Amino acid sequence: MNFKDYIRVIPDFPQPGIRFKDITTLINNGEVYRAAIEAISREVADKKIDLIAGPEARGFIIGAPLAVTLGVGFVPIRKSGKLPGEVVEASYALEYGKDKLAVHKDAIKPGQRILIADDLLATGGTIATTIDLIRQLGGEVVGSAFLIELGYLDGRSKLEGIDIFSLITY
Ligand code: PRP
Repeated sequence: MNFKDYIRVIPDFPQPGIRFKDITTLINNGEVYRAAIEAISREVADKKIDLIAGPEARGFIIGAPLAVTLGVGFVPIRKSGKLPGEVVEASYALEYGKDKLAVHKDAIKPGQRILIADDLLATGGTIATTIDLIRQLGGEVVGSAFLIELGYLDGRSKLEGIDIFSLITY
């Protein structure tokens, strides 16, 4: 299956010059959505994963079904102020200013093997921050998996030493 055929590219969104990769057209097709999750699942199946961690919001669309497919739990990485329990937080740079991501302190136990999942690897800032949070809790990041990687933004350079799998690359 050529997954790229199901991604809709929208020019000049959210700003002039950006070609937005819209995954809603892929996940709108149940057969293609399931095939994509299963393809990612096969790639990471031998990693002895304890938990999948995925950043809000689009990371949930990939991470949660991947966790169900692999039969492991899911850890939501959320924007600051959303999680009700005790959290650890980490800041990350946005184009203008900065934002914070958070995870529940008791969501990951020291030594647990965590795979990070998201829809998109762009500059890598979101995933670098997610790695920081997981490591603050003593988790071991055993890899990362994406539906799409924008190779021209070189997010990989921020994820040194982390195994990366991307189903679709631009
Ligand atoms: C998008 C996307 C990734 C991140 C990738 O999320 O879902 O998480 O950006 O960009 P980066 O590699 O440059 O950090 P966004 O922050 O737009 O939030 P959303 O999932 O809630 O739309």
